[in-house]
Amino acid sequence: MPDTSLAALVRAAAARLAAAGVPDPLVDAELLAGHVLGIRRGEVQAATVRGDAVSDADAAALDALVTRREGREPLQHITGTAPFRHLELAVGPGVFVPRPETETVVQFAIDALLAAPEPDPIGIDLGTGSGAIALAMATEVPHSRIFATELSPDAFPWAERNTGGAANLTLVNEDLGEAFRDLDGTASVVISNPPYVPDAAVPRDPEVRLFDPAMALYGGEDGLDIVRVLSIRALELLRPGGLLVIEHGELQGEEIRSILTRDGWRAAATHRDLTLRDRATTALRP
Ligand SMILES: C[S@@+](CC[C@H](N)C(=O)[O-])C[C@H]1O[C@@H](n2cnc3c(N)ncnc32)[C@H](O)[C@@H]1O
Repeated sequence: MPDTSLAALVRAAAARLAAAGVPDPLVDAELLAGHVLGIRRGEVQAATVRGDAVSDADAAALDALVTRREGREPLQHITGTAPFRHLELAVGPGVFVPRPETETVVQFAIDALLAAPEPDPIGIDLGTGSGAIALAMATEVPHSRIFATELSPDAFPWAERNTGGAANLTLVNEDLGEAFRDLDGTASVVISNPPYVPDAAVPRDPEVRLFDPAMALYGGEDGLDIVRVLSIRALELLRPGGLLVIEHGELQGEEIRSILTRDGWRAAATHRDLTLRDRATTALRP
């Protein structure tokens, strides 16, 4: 008789995912099992240690999800959610899956909002995707007023769905080069995780190449087309002393600092992420 314990099913799922080249096969197998069973990953691990059995229906459901993940569909599209700081965001086709690296980049914006002298400081997220950055600022700095824009008609509904409950957050479906003209000169913080991949540098991971929207990834020949727009637009949006935060690729810090400095920004500085790669550049509006 086949072993239908959860432990055996998770082991088999992890082996299939490893063979398909999935980077963290056991983690994904446990998360998919947890999704089917409606329990957290830690509870899956406890259940495997206990030797819990799984119903035929749940085993079949897990098998179907593992098949999707073998096709390198992002885990977050299969479960329908992506964790981001303290949030669980709804994600799926058409929207960029928020990344763990961005969780640390947002901290610069949150710290600046918390330190701002205004009673209700304004933070602006340009190219909000799922709404991850905007919603983190709105919920972690409840006295702030957050404004976010997303141009893609496919991504915008995801942002709407995720940010709908935040009373201090305004979302619009406009180009980041034009949005929020009425806020010019008032923002304490402008943050963006723009598309920054050079057009010819097609990402290796199938999850990114096949499932992240092109509009979220590619930023022109050197990847910095949107950064150049951001530099000009954020100078208009921020009040003097306001902070610009831009996420970018590990090799782009120097070029972004020189774009910002040429445009008149002060104290442009590049910061590393937890893997010690350049990940974000900040600058102050003079
Ligand atoms: C790398 S994704 C980041 C999404 C989200 N901020 C995050 O960190 O998960 C870049 C986002 O910018 C949006 N975008 C690209 N060009 C834009 C433009 N001109 N105006 C507004 N949004 C734009 C894309 O559709 C995409 O959702």
